[in-house]
This record gives sequence, C-alpha cells and structure tokens, in this order.
Amino acid sequence: MTEEHFSAKPISKTIQHGKVTWESPSNIALIKYWGKKANQIPENPSISFTLNNCKTITTVTYSLKDSGTDFDFDVFLDGDKKDDFKPKIATFFKRVEGYFSFLKDFHFKIETSNTFPHSSGIASSASGMSALALCLLSIEQSLTKSEMLDEYFKKKASFIARLGSGSACRSIEGDLIVWGNNDIVNGSSDLYGVKYPFEVHENFKDYQDTILLVDKGEKQVSSTVGHNLMHNHPYAHSRFQQAHDNLQKLKPILESGDLIAFIDLIESEALTLHAMMMTSMPYFILMKPNTLEIINKIWTFRKVSGLPVGFTLDAGANVHVLYPKKDANAILEFIKHELVAYCENRQYICDQIGFGAQQIDNG
Ligand code: DP6
Repeated sequence: MTEEHFSAKPISKTIQHGKVTWESPSNIALIKYWGKKANQIPENPSISFTLNNCKTITTVTYSLKDSGTDFDFDVFLDGDKKDDFKPKIATFFKRVEGYFSFLKDFHFKIETSNTFPHSSGIASSASGMSALALCLLSIEQSLTKSEMLDEYFKKKASFIARLGSGSACRSIEGDLIVWGNNDIVNGSSDLYGVKYPFEVHENFKDYQDTILLVDKGEKQVSSTVGHNLMHNHPYAHSRFQQAHDNLQKLKPILESGDLIAFIDLIESEALTLHAMMMTSMPYFILMKPNTLEIINKIWTFRKVSGLPVGFTLDAGANVHVLYPKKDANAILEFIKHELVAYCENRQYICDQIGFGAQQIDNG
C-alpha cells in the first residue's frame, strides 16, 4: 500500500456540524523506534505493547465556516484553553492536509484529557495524536457518508497518527503492534502499524506494566531532536540492523514464552536506546540517578527471587517494570517496598497490555 491509498475523499457539505469522541491508549515499545527519515518514516522496525489504562480522551466538535483559507481550531486540556498546544496541532494539520479535503472548511474545537497525571513525563503524544487522528477519520467518514471498511479505517488512522507522532501509529489497535518495513512480518509497513501476526504464548497475555514516575519534569531533549541526532550518528547503521535482528529473535521468544530471553532482549533494547543518546553529538542523558537505582534493585530482586521481572525505558527517566500477571502479587509487593521510594512523590501507575482505541458514543 502506498500514500495514494489514503488520499482525501470528496465531501458533501450537507452536514454542517457534528461531534466525535475517541479514547486512545499509550503504548510501550519493546523494540524501539529511534531515528527517522523525512515524512515520519522510521529508520528501523519497532514493536510495542499497547497499554490499557494510560489513555487520552479527545472530543472534536466541528462546524462549517464561511471561507476556507486556513486552519481554524481551538484546543482545550481538561477544560482549559491551551494555545501553547496549537503550533504542534497546526504542524500536524499541515502534514495531513493532503489526506483530508475538509480541514480548512470547518472550525474545530478539540477537547482533550488524559487518564494519567499531566506532566507525569509519560509520553502523551502517542495517545494524543492517535485519538486526534481517529476523530479526523470519523469526521471524514461522516462527511463523505462513505462506508469505509473497518480495516481501511484503522490503517488510515494509523497512517495519519504516524504523521503526528511516529509511535502514535502503534496505538490504534492492540495488543502487540509492529511498525516499520521488515522481512519478518508479512504486510509490515513504514506507513502504519500492523498487528503482530504470529503466535504469542499465554505468558504474555495480560502482561503487566507498572510505570515508575522517576522524574515528572519536562524532558531536556525532545524525542524529535533525539531522532534527528541519529543522522550521522557513529552507530546508526549497526543500531538499525540490530532492531531488525532483535525482531527476528523476539519471534521464537514470544512463541515459546521464554521470559528470561524476553527480559534479556527488552532490557538490552532499552539500554541501547539510551546508549544512542549518550553517543549522539551533542550527547545527552535522560536517565536520572533514581533510574539507575531502580534498575539495580530490579536486577538484584530478579536474582534473589528468581521471578521474571524486567524493565524497559522510554525517552525519559521513568521506568516501565514489566512482568507476567501470574507473578503480579509478589512483584507488586517488591515495587511498593523497594522501588516506589525512588519515584517523584512516590507516584506510579499500574497498567497492562490493552487492545487499542475505542470510539465513545456522544449520545
Ligand atoms: C523512545 O514517537 O515520540 O518512545 O515521531 O518525533 O513524535 P516523533 O517521536 P516519538 O518517539 C518515540 C521514541 C521512543 C521509542 C518508541 O516508542 O518506539
């Protein structure tokens, strides 16, 4: 499938206003997207667990306006007008303009809220951009009065979400999503995420992700800047190859339920991501001392208890503690007794694998 497949559909202007709501989850990558080409094309494939509890809920109210020369929208977070969010959304609208024919004809009121605390350091771009992309798709569907096949709707939503934020294309569906062209997953694409098509062992059903909020402050270096530093990065080539190799290695691990091999692979991916940051020019470090304290505690606990607990990191200081549901009681006790002390205000979020976005009926 190419970009043309997602081209704008002509609209009929008999519908002058409407309202649509979607809730869309965040996701956590096991094999990381880090480095991109023009137009949000990833340098390597990635795979993620879709989350269940960390979500953005977005309502878009649209009303036809007189002249259609520019984008016209307002953004609200938890009911408060957020003009500082506008440039990011204007950039997004510009990027997706060619794929919708109605963006300049309507005024949009975008109202959004997150289930996780604001400025928790949790990436809200994946859930936020996917929720907004889904709202635009639903509006397109209403305005064109077309019967879009569910599969096409989801693909285009993922394609549009990607143009807002790369990782957002992995939030439309669950529970394991692959993004980026590769030889292992048939039908994989740089343009959108696809469901992981192979067998997955019981061990990974209901997998738990407890997110330890180590640092809730604004990141010093954004993901976008970090991705760009992979251009001319001394290890870029081998890192991109490694992501392909790791996807190949992950397949038998997911199939057999080998939790030890799984932990080895995902922890290595997390540390490699941060190693890329440390070896960029300019170099930077997003982990904090407490990130390392937590990692060391996890390693000691794993050795002593024999329980399959591992971690991954996103582009920040927070730690995602990953473990199977069957060991949740013991591991949650460990988290509460030994790890929570390293979190800012002792804050953490309990999440688990989820199955993707949902439309909310506006009644
Ligand atoms: C480390 O998707 O936030 O979380 O495409 O510039 O919006 P943009 O970047 P973004 O990068 C996410 C990077 C990551 C790894 C991952 O989610 O795969």
